[in-house]
Amino acid sequence: MGKKQFQAFRGGAGNGYAGYAMEIIKTVGDYRVWRKDLGPDLTVGFVPTMGALHAGHMKLVETSGRANDITVVSIFVNPLQFGPAEDFSRYPRPFEADSLLCREAGVAAIFAPEAPTFYPPDFSAYCEVPGPDRFLDGASRPGHFRGVCTVVLKLFNIVNPDRAYFGQKDIQQALILRKLVRDFSLDLELEIVETVREATGLALSSRNVYLTPDEKSRATALSRGLFRAKEAWTRGEKSAETLKAMMRSEIEASSPTRIDYIEAVSQADLAPAETLSKPSVLAVAVFYGKTRLIDNVLLD
Ligand code: PAF
Repeated sequence: MGKKQFQAFRGGAGNGYAGYAMEIIKTVGDYRVWRKDLGPDLTVGFVPTMGALHAGHMKLVETSGRANDITVVSIFVNPLQFGPAEDFSRYPRPFEADSLLCREAGVAAIFAPEAPTFYPPDFSAYCEVPGPDRFLDGASRPGHFRGVCTVVLKLFNIVNPDRAYFGQKDIQQALILRKLVRDFSLDLELEIVETVREATGLALSSRNVYLTPDEKSRATALSRGLFRAKEAWTRGEKSAETLKAMMRSEIEASSPTRIDYIEAVSQADLAPAETLSKPSVLAVAVFYGKTRLIDNVLLD
């Protein structure tokens, strides 16, 4: 579909492809042919995902639809960003349901490469953003952000978007990728979109499906702790120790299986801060059963 056809088809604001036969593209070569055929004038919004889509992902798609002519979603469970003891093999892969959601939301194409062709056996180029990857998840999950940066840089090169959308729930990922875009002078804008929560406050995550009903209800302590601390910060409490203690008491009361971290870091470099007078992040990572959940609030 070239630009003229696309505009004739397009019925107003948002993702103009709603109702149109969305493409499902599996190879880099096919994606490039499809993209070339659209012509150079359409703006492309890109939402990279690992699938198991939920309302948080769909908010990224919606945000992209408001600012771009078309939206491309990638679905790829990236083996490079999982540690050896992590959940790569059991990560949910409901591709049919994901495709339906994308189609209904007016996504123009899903790019869903297969791992063996995406990473051929002699693949050996990696991308790292040392510095902000030393803290929080970077400390707990060695190699995770190298895997994320490598796949996202590769996806940016293929999809060639004008704008890319990432959720605030993975704030460290989003800030590291924003630095990657800046450091490599990539020609795109990276937007961070607010976390979507259940009515209980629990942040939406593809990993929530692992939680038992009891774990799910205990896990609401994460957002309660974060918002309680944020409220105290808004009232003038700037001591990281005091705010972390507040979050800890809320989270410990929910009998978590293990607290990985409860941190207060600077937004500039993600390093732990003692006094939170500059833009900061309160961030937590906690296990309920075998499921590791992360959440955060921004202080700015
Ligand atoms: O946030 C995710 O789902 C993944 O880390 C991403 C950005 C799609 C890279 O695999």
